[in-house]
Amino acid sequence: MVVMVIVLVFLHLTVKQVKTDEIRVKCPSVCNCPNRTVAICNNQRIDEISPDRDSFESSLEKLEFSGNKLTLLDDDTLLEWKVSNLRSLNLSGNRIVNITRYAFQGFGQLEDLDLSRNNVSSIHFESFLFLPKLAVLRLAGNRLTEIHPVTFTELFHLRHLDLSNNIISEIHRETFFNNSDLEWLSLAKNEISEIDPHVFQNQRKLSYLDLSENLITKIEGELFCYNRKHETLLLASNNISEFNASAFHKGSELSDLDVSRNRIEVLESLTLLSLKSLNVSKNSLQSLRSRSFSNLKDLRNLSLARNNTLEINDEAFYGLEKLEYLDLSSNNISEFNASAFHKESERSDLDVSRNRIEILGSLTLLSLESLDISNNSLRSLRSRSFSNLKDLRYLSLAGNNILEINDEAFYGLENLEYLDLSSNNITDISSSVFQNMLHQM
Ligand SMILES: *[C@@H]1O[C@H](CO)[C@@H](O)[C@H](O)[C@H]1NC(C)=O
Ligand SMILES: *[C@@H]1O[C@H](CO)[C@@H](O)[C@H](O)[C@H]1NC(C)=O
Ligand SMILES: *[C@@H]1O[C@H](CO)[C@@H](O)[C@H](O)[C@H]1NC(C)=O
Ligand SMILES: *[C@@H]1O[C@H](CO)[C@@H](O)[C@H](O)[C@H]1NC(C)=O
Ligand SMILES: *[C@@H]1O[C@H](CO)[C@@H](O)[C@H](O)[C@H]1NC(C)=O
Ligand SMILES: *[C@@H]1O[C@H](CO)[C@@H](O)[C@H](O)[C@H]1NC(C)=O
Ligand SMILES: *[C@@H]1O[C@H](CO)[C@@H](O)[C@H](O)[C@H]1NC(C)=O
Ligand SMILES: *[C@@H]1O[C@H](CO)[C@@H](O)[C@H](O)[C@H]1NC(C)=O
Ligand SMILES: *[C@@H]1O[C@H](CO)[C@@H](O)[C@H](O)[C@H]1NC(C)=O
Ligand SMILES: *[C@@H]1O[C@H](CO)[C@@H](O)[C@H](O)[C@H]1NC(C)=O
Ligand SMILES: *[C@@H]1O[C@H](CO)[C@@H](O)[C@H](O)[C@H]1NC(C)=O
Ligand SMILES: *[C@@H]1O[C@H](CO)[C@@H](O)[C@H](O)[C@H]1NC(C)=O
Repeated sequence: MVVMVIVLVFLHLTVKQVKTDEIRVKCPSVCNCPNRTVAICNNQRIDEISPDRDSFESSLEKLEFSGNKLTLLDDDTLLEWKVSNLRSLNLSGNRIVNITRYAFQGFGQLEDLDLSRNNVSSIHFESFLFLPKLAVLRLAGNRLTEIHPVTFTELFHLRHLDLSNNIISEIHRETFFNNSDLEWLSLAKNEISEIDPHVFQNQRKLSYLDLSENLITKIEGELFCYNRKHETLLLASNNISEFNASAFHKGSELSDLDVSRNRIEVLESLTLLSLKSLNVSKNSLQSLRSRSFSNLKDLRNLSLARNNTLEINDEAFYGLEKLEYLDLSSNNISEFNASAFHKESERSDLDVSRNRIEILGSLTLLSLESLDISNNSLRSLRSRSFSNLKDLRYLSLAGNNILEINDEAFYGLENLEYLDLSSNNITDISSSVFQNMLHQM
């Protein structure tokens, strides 16, 4: 009995405590503050928080202030808000033009700062020196043309830096020298044409690097030699004509490399042993030598599609034991020679659509599950063309010039689920053509 009374009194007290807490949370009228540590003031079209009328809790840790009309981040803007315990500040989608030298002075607890989608063209080179704990910095979608080499020097714990979608044309050698904790870096959609080969030399932990949509012409020297933990490197849509694999760490863990939409003519033998996905589509490759990929035992996805005028030599794909997906579409391949392929790959999809293939040799790609030969120049299908492809489920022969189909053309396709013969010149099909496979379709 006594115990119960005590429990009741205790419950009563805590409820009351919470209520008074709610009443006492200081919160500007345009914001919503669920408790003493969080304030949400998004999309209110406000250009300031006036300290005379409005104030935040000084214990505030997270402030969301995106989609407003703040234009200036000067020495006093944040200071007047009296929120020096902030750990996370989101100012994305405002109209901030410049950031002054002391804008962040007194905000030493800040770990996560989002300044994306503003109009920032200048950051004082000492602005971030006051943020020793900063781990995540987002500056995407601004109008930065240059990063002063001192800007990030005190950010020893920076892990994530997004500088994409600016108009940066040059990165100084020292820019990231002290950011040895950096794991994720995007410089995509800028105007970088030359990169100092030592710019990433202290990024031992870098695992994700996006340099796509710039004007880079060469990958050479020691550019990525220090980035052993590299997993993803995106270089699509640059102007790269020279791609030298010795620019990478010998034991690089790189698994995903995209060099599509560049001007690469020759692929030197690739020594990036842990690659799982390689995209070289939309380049200017002329031919693929024998065993070009023979070191890439782990490669699963390979795209060589679009506007490479490819000649494929015998054993071009030799060694690709784990290949699952090979895209050779929209090239100028006239000879389709099964001896180019590795015989024992586990299972795979092959796309050779939109080429100039006239004759199908015997197909010995035993593990193929999907084969797209649409939009080529096939005229006929010989007897038992696919008889080795016991696992094939999908076959497209659409958009060729096929006039005739041999009665036994599809012999052996026991597992076929989809067959497309549309847009050909077939006038007559004997019903026995499908005899061996009808029961599945
Ligand atoms: C404050 O509110 C936010 C959002 O509702 C919540 O995620 C957080 O856990 C709360 N913090 C405290 C200390 O109650
Ligand atoms: C900042 O706010 C915007 C808009 O609400 C949001 O999309 C973005 O994810 C936020 N940034 C972070 C780091 O949470
Ligand atoms: C902000 O930038 C503009 C243009 O660069 C400049 O004229 C102005 O003086 C800057 N304001 C401050 C407070 O630095
Ligand atoms: C961004 O700044 C430029 C000048 O630096 C100005 O012309 C433009 O109107 C600004 N854009 C916005 C959305 O404020
Ligand atoms: C930080 O980088 C600068 C060069 O930008 C260098 O002079 C300084 O020694 C570095 N500091 C540390 C602790 O590495
Ligand atoms: C690409 O590089 C070549 C020289 O290698 C240059 O002539 C051309 O202008 C560059 N293209 C672009 C879009 O910068
Ligand atoms: C690639 O770089 C290495 C080392 O820098 C050099 O020896 C080699 O000649 C380069 N290869 C090409 C094709 O330029
Ligand atoms: C390869 O890159 C091209 C062009 O950038 C893109 O359209 C395609 O989806 C990519 N393929 C894969 C498998 O990622
Ligand atoms: C290969 O590409 C397919 C389709 O684009 C994707 O779903 C898969 O995750 C990729 N695999 C690897 C290892 O990149
Ligand atoms: C190939 O390049 C030509 C000329 O450069 C262009 O007209 C065509 O659209 C490109 N085709 C593809 C599939 O990208
Ligand atoms: C494709 O190859 C044929 C013959 O080899 C050649 O005449 C034609 O110019 C090539 N087309 C392209 C776009 O390279
Ligand atoms: C296929 O038919 C089209 C139009 O009916 C014709 O232009 C083309 O020459 C024919 N192709 C062959 C190989 O007979």
